[in-house]
Amino acid sequence: ELSPIDKAKFAAAKRAVQYVEDGMRVGLGTGSTAAWMVRCLGEMVREEGLQIKGVPTSTRTADLARQMGIEVVTLDEAKWLDVTIDGADEFDGQLNLIKGGGGALLQEKIVATASDMMVVIADAAKEVAQLGAFPLPVEVVPFGWQTTRALIEETLVGMDVLGRTTTLRLNGQKPFLTDENNYIVDLHLNRIGDPRQLALVLNQIPGVVENGLFIDICDVVVIGQGDGRVEVRD
Ligand code: A5P
Repeated sequence: ELSPIDKAKFAAAKRAVQYVEDGMRVGLGTGSTAAWMVRCLGEMVREEGLQIKGVPTSTRTADLARQMGIEVVTLDEAKWLDVTIDGADEFDGQLNLIKGGGGALLQEKIVATASDMMVVIADAAKEVAQLGAFPLPVEVVPFGWQTTRALIEETLVGMDVLGRTTTLRLNGQKPFLTDENNYIVDLHLNRIGDPRQLALVLNQIPGVVENGLFIDICDVVVIGQGDGRVEVRD
């Protein structure tokens, strides 16, 4: 028997895979919710003969997709995707997102942007009136990362946010490494007044590779409830 949270994630995943049709090239997101979606797609491949090419957004998802019998190709092999299905850490009323809690934001953003459609799957607890309670992940190159972090903090002074603390994400005692061998600095902002502006200015800082704000990228959010009901927002 699934816990209510897993029931919610599974219900959202199950509904979202209805966007996938035979012959499609599909972006496969990362995280615990996206893992349910990969399992659902795998079942459709194995039991219904669904033919798709999957482009994973992390090594974790690539491993799972192969295990589930999904054909895995690179983004460059696929060139363009019909749909990407991924989780999120937060979404707001405009369907803007914070992503990267699992550290895969860079590949996730590249893949989602290369897709005709992005479908986000989330449990109801991820919905917020304003983004920012979840720490905003920013991927930075290891070279000079402390200088980059200082520049990020300086940039935040002029921004409409409630908190300005930053932390280097760790894996035990060492810096957490992304699939691209970069670091992640998490920004504890509590409230982001202008996500669009923040996303732009962060990416202008040398050393910043990408940030976890997804603005105007997501088309649909499928929200799962603990009792298995779903709501589709678009
Ligand atoms: C991975 O980097 C993230 O963007 C995930 O999509 C996000 O953290 C959601 O993960 P869960 O589905 O595990 O909450």
